Amino acid sequence: MKVDVLLGLQWGDEGKGKVVDVLTPRYDVVSRFQGGPNAGHTLEFDGQKYVLRSIPSGIFQGGKINVIGNGVVLDPLLFKQEAEALAASGHDLTKRLLISKKAHLILPTHRMLDAANEAAKGDAKIGTTGKGIGPTYTDKISRNGVRVGDILHDFDKKYSQAKAKHESLLRALNYTYDITELEKEWLEGIEFLKQFTFIDSDYEINQYLKDGKSVLAEGAQGTMLDIDFGSYPFVTSSNTVCAGACTGLGIAPNKIGEVYGIFKAYCTRVGSGPFPTELFDETGDKLCVIGHEFGSVTGRKRRCGWIDLVALKYAIMIDGVTQLIMMKSDVMDTFETIKACVAYDIAGEETDRYPFEIDENVKPVYVELPGWQTDMTKMQSEDEFPEEFNQYLSFLEEQLQTPIKIVSVGPDRDQTIERYTEIEERRVGKEC
Ligand code: GDP
Ligand code: IMO
Ligand code: MG
Repeated sequence: MKVDVLLGLQWGDEGKGKVVDVLTPRYDVVSRFQGGPNAGHTLEFDGQKYVLRSIPSGIFQGGKINVIGNGVVLDPLLFKQEAEALAASGHDLTKRLLISKKAHLILPTHRMLDAANEAAKGDAKIGTTGKGIGPTYTDKISRNGVRVGDILHDFDKKYSQAKAKHESLLRALNYTYDITELEKEWLEGIEFLKQFTFIDSDYEINQYLKDGKSVLAEGAQGTMLDIDFGSYPFVTSSNTVCAGACTGLGIAPNKIGEVYGIFKAYCTRVGSGPFPTELFDETGDKLCVIGHEFGSVTGRKRRCGWIDLVALKYAIMIDGVTQLIMMKSDVMDTFETIKACVAYDIAGEETDRYPFEIDENVKPVYVELPGWQTDMTKMQSEDEFPEEFNQYLSFLEEQLQTPIKIVSVGPDRDQTIERYTEIEERRVGKEC
């Protein structure tokens, strides 16, 4: 068996949580492979709404194994809050959630360092989620991290050593803080974690594959926030791209099967950083209001703009996407016309390459398409799609050379429409 990977192709919040939940019945195992509680994955079903941060989005479909992989960074306190909220709503995780011993722990002082680093950057701040993600991955790479498996091996010593290093860094940054209460709750989180099974997730996942079990790897953030390929330095600190599933789970590249790439029918971004198709007018406001574009973790207003096909093509190339999933097209149900950026104009030269540096000289080149002006939120099959919507899909498939296999027309699990049921005749462009 192979591992199928599901990834955001833009700047996060594409709707990954919803789709993982929808796809989970087809899999035996769902596993997160990178990121941490900077993620906020929203799922809606049976009139209920849930936001997951560290727990894989397969947790609501009964009987599936959910794994937090080695590439994830875990905050025991936030994890405890998340798990307790789920238990209170009738979803007990202890038997179904396995945690990699090699996942790194986010310490209270990592959160302080995140805040101190941002403060030191001033106007150039990244606009992080403030969850200590960057400092935790920094410690991992500089070989100073504390891992989940360490909780069972000389934890007190490892924790105090790491904390002491952080304290001296915070002093150097002149950052004043008080973590007394936070640390107390965090240590309760460490105790809470002990009721879960810590695993050698690399061996486990490979064994699942050998045993014929199907595995879905759930990405967090999005390709344009990748530490190597995103709009650096305005990125997160992990590899959000498909290759991250290999290092974040311990699976070989030849074990990757389908790569699902998720994108919104328009674009959003939270935090700082370049966004060539950003709209500062009433159309941007309309996308924000109708799409409820406010961060699920921080509540921050998301910046909104037209779809950027230059960035999307780049993401599809880096990730090796085999099928696309388009989200939130219903947000544009009332739009008379829709724009799509097909190239960038840089000082009079058009390019469809994502440039090294994006500044105010990079101007989007748009194609305008007719809107469908139809409420699609109750549609159940592609046969009901309006003509203009089909035109939009065909245009995107032509541009992106990849089939759009699923269209999401609302936040609920049931508002999901599969296309290409008679796959072979209608497959476009490239082989899946
Ligand atoms: P994730 O981080 O990729 O899982 O995405 P988020 O949950 O942060 O943000 C996506 C938001 O859009 C959530 O509030 C979802 O409930 C909502 N959503 C997902 N799919 C759709 C859709 O097709 N239409 C609409 N209107 N909302 C959607
Ligand atoms: P999901 O999984 C959207 C953004 C932050 C900031 C940058 C770095 O819900 O799609 P970090 O805290 O990671 O150091 O912040 O990355 N960011 C996200 N934006 N969705 C996310 O996750 C994000 N996780 C981080 O806003 O700009
Ligand atoms: Mg999100």
